[in-house]
Amino acid sequence: MTALSWKPLLFMLAIVAGLAASPALAQSTVTDGQKLAFDRGKGNCLTCHVIKGGDLPGTIGPELKDIKAKYPDRNDLVAILFDETKRNPQSMMPPFGRNRILTEQEISAIVDFLQTL
Ligand code: HEC
Repeated sequence: MTALSWKPLLFMLAIVAGLAASPALAQSTVTDGQKLAFDRGKGNCLTCHVIKGGDLPGTIGPELKDIKAKYPDRNDLVAILFDETKRNPQSMMPPFGRNRILTEQEISAIVDFLQTL
C-alpha cells in the first residue's frame, strides 16, 4: 500500500468523526433548553404547562407534547416564545423575548428542547 492511498481513508474518518460530534452538540443545547424551561427563575414554563420530566406543573396553558408534529417550523416556536401576544393579544404567556426574560440563545435552546417532546 502506498502512502497516498491513506488520504481518502483519513478524509472519511474526518467525516465520521464530524458526524459523531454533531449529535453530542445538539444534545447539550437540548439539555440546556430543558434546564432553562424548568428553571423557576428563567422560563418557568412548568407554572403553566405540563412538560414530560417536569415536577408540579400548572395547567393554565396546554400540555407541551408532540410539538414537532404541531410546529414543524422551528421559527414558529421561536415566535411563540419571543412574543405570544402577537398571535393572541389576550395570552397569559409572558413575551419572553420582547420582555428580555430570555435571550435569543436561551429561546433557541428551549426550542431545541421543545422539539424533542
Ligand atoms: C403564565 C402562563 C404561561 C407560562 C409561564 C408559559 N406559557 Fe406557554 N402558553 C400559555 C398559554 C395560556 C398558552 C395557550 C396559547 C395562548 O394563550 O396564546 C401557551 C401556549 C404555548 C405554546 C403553544 C402550544 C400549542 O400547543 O399550540 C408553546 C409551544 C408554549 N406555550 C411554550 C412555552 C414555554 C417553552 C414556556 C417557558 C419558556 C411557556 N410556554 C411559559 C401560558 C404560559
